[in-house]
Amino acid sequence: MRVLAYDIHSYDREFLEHANGGRHDLHFTTAQLDPRTAMLARGFPAVCTFVNDDASAETLERLAAGGTRLIAQRSMGFNNIDLAIAERLGITCMRVSAYSPYAVAEFAVSLLLTVNRRIHRAYNRTREFNFRLGGLMGRDIHGKTVGVVGTGKIGLVFATILKGFGCGLLGYDVVQNPECVALGMRYLPLQELLAASDIVSLHAPLTPQTHHLINAESLACIKAGAILINTSRGGLIDTEALIEALRAGRLQGVGLDVYEEEEGKFFKDLSDTVMTDDTLARLITFGNVLVTGHQAFFTNEAFRTITETTIRNITDFEEGRSNENVLRPR
Ligand SMILES: NC(=O)c1ccc[n+]([C@@H]2O[C@H](COP(=O)([O-])OP(=O)(O)OC[C@H]3O[C@@H](n4cnc5c(N)ncnc54)[C@H](O)[C@@H]3O)[C@@H](O)[C@H]2O)c1
Repeated sequence: MRVLAYDIHSYDREFLEHANGGRHDLHFTTAQLDPRTAMLARGFPAVCTFVNDDASAETLERLAAGGTRLIAQRSMGFNNIDLAIAERLGITCMRVSAYSPYAVAEFAVSLLLTVNRRIHRAYNRTREFNFRLGGLMGRDIHGKTVGVVGTGKIGLVFATILKGFGCGLLGYDVVQNPECVALGMRYLPLQELLAASDIVSLHAPLTPQTHHLINAESLACIKAGAILINTSRGGLIDTEALIEALRAGRLQGVGLDVYEEEEGKFFKDLSDTVMTDDTLARLITFGNVLVTGHQAFFTNEAFRTITETTIRNITDFEEGRSNENVLRPR
């Protein structure tokens, strides 16, 4: 099958070509999918997309007009695709519904440990032979209460690791995960979880219900001196409200692998340009905030599964088979 893969970096190409083994006719572009670049896919029955490709109504209409019938998303999250419009246009959408939850959960723990012990600041200091400790004091993780928002596959692994640190576990979800309950997790309404947790980690998908789940109102409830970690999707946090909470000194630390306006910025080297996103620039100025560029999934194991599953999805579609990765509008 002829496939145009958007938003491709050297590592995407290497892993996709390896997983493909010559089976499909893969073409690659560094361009991100949007209404303008949809025309590149004219004549391609399949496109392959990533988290910040824009598969909204206008793009989908252009893809459909050009003959595209499959979107193979090479990620778990799919909030960038308008599934209702895709279905109406006869475009099948598939994703990678499962890959190493350890990749993301372990990264969330890395962010937590880094911001708690200020390792990002220590790294910069020691590079200049500054070995002073002022400003680097953290807190023991052992004995703290951890609030897990979204207790699915990644939330469960995160909770399991933090249980190993000797933490108490609280959870917030629309459904309780029996494996989390078995770890000793106690489910609470969100505001109560925020008020009681020393550490809050977000692992829920971005949906209309979870958009700005962390906002001025919920940040007003958060325990003073809490650490907030987000490896889920940027849209879960109202960034302006978060900046206000940081300015007020209400949080000990914040680790963000995702940002609500990351599209067009993350996965790119913008070091030679003027940063025009004042909100992101302000976030990065806080010494107790660590921003990474959506890299939690980026382990060898996870990436291999992502690319192999993407190729399997394309093959199944071509051969008329459905599988667990077909997305349907809710
Ligand atoms: N940063 C990264 O590189 C990266 C990589 C993979 C996944 N993610 C994000 O992590 C998220 C979680 O992944 P997962 O594999 O654990 O998914 P999952 O589907 O196993 O778990 C998600 C959990 O969120 C819960 N949830 C759904 N709606 C909710 C709501 N309104 N309020 C509270 N909880 C709600 C679900 O019930 C489920 O238990 C993904 O949706 C994706 O956005 C990020």
